[in-house]
Amino acid sequence: MKTVRAVLAFLALGAFLASLALAAESVADTVKSKCASCHNLVRVCAGIGKHDAAAWQKIVQSMVRKGAKLSGEEPAEVSKFLASGAAAGALDCPK
Ligand code: HEC
Repeated sequence: MKTVRAVLAFLALGAFLASLALAAESVADTVKSKCASCHNLVRVCAGIGKHDAAAWQKIVQSMVRKGAKLSGEEPAEVSKFLASGAAAGALDCPK
């Protein structure tokens, strides 16, 4: 019984991590499709690791004013994502 529970816990953890990865993946797609039309992602990559979520929020808002087509929760999600350690890898930023 203990093994079954351990296996279940392991599977649940796996599903949880997969859902996190999936969420990062889809925000990464938003950035790839909506932040690379005026300049390329190199510009976005250059800011990763330099700005926190609040600073990104300001930058993203100024991009929206310039014409970036983000709606609803996207500006907040994108800002949080860009401030996270997952961003550089998910966007294939040059190292
Ligand atoms: C409508 C065109 C457009 C879109 C779409 C766009 N940008 Fe920009 N972006 C610009 C222009 C123009 C500049 C240079 C002027 C400036 O620095 O304000 C810039 C500059 C930047 C900079 C450097 C500015 C700084 O203060 O360091 C970053 C970072 C950036 N963009 C990120 C993004 C992100 C993230 C997105 C997607 C949410 C995005 N951009 C979408 C036009 C755009």
